[in-house]
Amino acid sequence: DHGRPKPPPGLDFRRVEPNTLDAVVVPEGYEQGIIIRWGDPVLPGAPKWDITKQTGDAQAKQFGYNCDFAALLPLDHAGHASLLVTNHEYTTETHMFPGYDVDNPTEEQVKVAWAAHGLTVVLVTRSPWSGHFQPKMSKFNRRITMHTPFKVTGPAAGSDLLKTSADPTGTVVLGTMNNCAGGVTPWGTILSGEENVNQYFGNADLVPDEKTRKRLARYGIKGTETVRKWERFDTRFDLTKQVNEANRFGWVIELDPHDPGSTPVKHTHLGRFKHECANIRIADDGRVVAYSGDDERFEYIYKYVSNGKVKKGDSAHARRHNMTLLDDGTLYVARFTGDSPVSEIDGSGKLPSDGEFDGSGEWIPLAAGNKSFVDGMTAEEVYVFTREAADQVGATKMDRPEDIQAHPKTGRIYCALSNNVERGNPGKEGATEPNPRLNNKHGQVLELEEDALALKFSWRLFLVCGDPAAPDTYFAGFPKDQVSPISSPDNVAFDRHGNLWISTDSAGALGINDGLYGVPLDGKQRGNLKLFLTVPKGAETCGPIIGDKVVTVCVQHPGEVDGASADNPVSHWPDGGASVPRPSVVAVWKPGRHGLSDIGG
Ligand code: FEO
Ligand code: CA
Ligand code: CA
Ligand code: CA
Repeated sequence: DHGRPKPPPGLDFRRVEPNTLDAVVVPEGYEQGIIIRWGDPVLPGAPKWDITKQTGDAQAKQFGYNCDFAALLPLDHAGHASLLVTNHEYTTETHMFPGYDVDNPTEEQVKVAWAAHGLTVVLVTRSPWSGHFQPKMSKFNRRITMHTPFKVTGPAAGSDLLKTSADPTGTVVLGTMNNCAGGVTPWGTILSGEENVNQYFGNADLVPDEKTRKRLARYGIKGTETVRKWERFDTRFDLTKQVNEANRFGWVIELDPHDPGSTPVKHTHLGRFKHECANIRIADDGRVVAYSGDDERFEYIYKYVSNGKVKKGDSAHARRHNMTLLDDGTLYVARFTGDSPVSEIDGSGKLPSDGEFDGSGEWIPLAAGNKSFVDGMTAEEVYVFTREAADQVGATKMDRPEDIQAHPKTGRIYCALSNNVERGNPGKEGATEPNPRLNNKHGQVLELEEDALALKFSWRLFLVCGDPAAPDTYFAGFPKDQVSPISSPDNVAFDRHGNLWISTDSAGALGINDGLYGVPLDGKQRGNLKLFLTVPKGAETCGPIIGDKVVTVCVQHPGEVDGASADNPVSHWPDGGASVPRPSVVAVWKPGRHGLSDIGG
């Protein structure tokens, strides 16, 4: 039509218009259904969800709150039966309990919160004629909560820095928290990042030792009472009682969903920070490379390279071996160098004279096994206080590194840099070529090219996000009058055609709801960003899985806007009427004449 190029393979859908509706909006001709929502039964004996009668015991058998990462692990060739694994990032008590007293939560409410964190494994099935997966009871179903034992592995396991009175060995941690994004390993397990763990530990300012207080503060652990007040009900959340408990969170965990009796692990060799996620790439020689971002303003991007090699096949034996690969290797942090004169990076987002924000970079080693490469820090300290190590070696401060993943075909690495409204603030770093805008409200998407084992790379910004009509945005050079607006990229995924998909968290900065976008990475349409779906008011879009026939997304924190609560919900999605909103996993598919049509086909 009118000489416009044909839609690229996999992205042939009518783009969704940005909106502020209290609904999931999908392209014309597509259908949607809720797979599972907060409170739905997962384990036998789970009571029907009732917001007025919720208990910790009930919640421990039900789907948790605020689903973020999701994985579908097929159990049959067609993927009609799959294990759905989701993270439950955090709880928002004012939205979960009518009449919640922020100063005096009850013990039962705190127990609900502990059980609403963690992960869920649940069998889901669909018929060949519908994309609407349904949850089923099965031997695989499992809830991981704040009370599930984890084994600590890697070189910091057993460190004095991880010992508490409940665990004098420093090797067994109860629970996981603030699990944000994650990754599916090539051997069929799940990696999940413990992200904003600073919110859960009270009385940091009352810890007597100054060095310890500084270390806590470097991780954002400050103040006295926490908002959730867990420290009133379990002393392990009170740093004056258990100063090391906070060191036991902020790791990448690994879970084998195929073995419901297995003990999940915390991998210390990947370092401790606000892990958004971790994603694996396999080098030609079989060694394993993991990328992970520290999602905070002015934090870093990390890479880990294993010494051991992956064992092929999906036997339990191979999986057990492969689950040790993240415990013996080398941890690196990224330093970026721009190739344009510093004078051309003026903070406005205007492209430099070479036409691109781009350059080179290197991976700086931090530690390998028991060997530290950082002056004045032991290897254990590098793993437990990784941010300090990265500060010392002069790593590059990025604009909130979120999801980072290698493209399965090209091997190029894509990282969502969500935003950084503090860039250029007094006392803070100004613009750099990879982070070229001051008061960066909308973020950018970084493309990095390297051999898996290389210590040098090249990089460029693929997208500089925002309103395409604004001069400070860039869509890989594609005509901006044809692309969808986007703000605050968070998760990345790929489809079988090689397109990149991006989900967002904070498109409110553009006055629109968050959504899921597809964009070609190569050819004439590289940069032609298309909005595929949007989520309800106050929600973020996360955990996108781009299947051939079904797309799924997690709708996290619907209705989370200022002033809203369980007594005053501003979203009623998905139950409608006067209901409170419920974080849920949604499936989207396109009915065809002979079963389902291909997504974007
Ligand atoms: Fe939980 Fe970095 O988003
Ligand atoms: Ca340049
Ligand atoms: Ca995220
Ligand atoms: Ca986020």
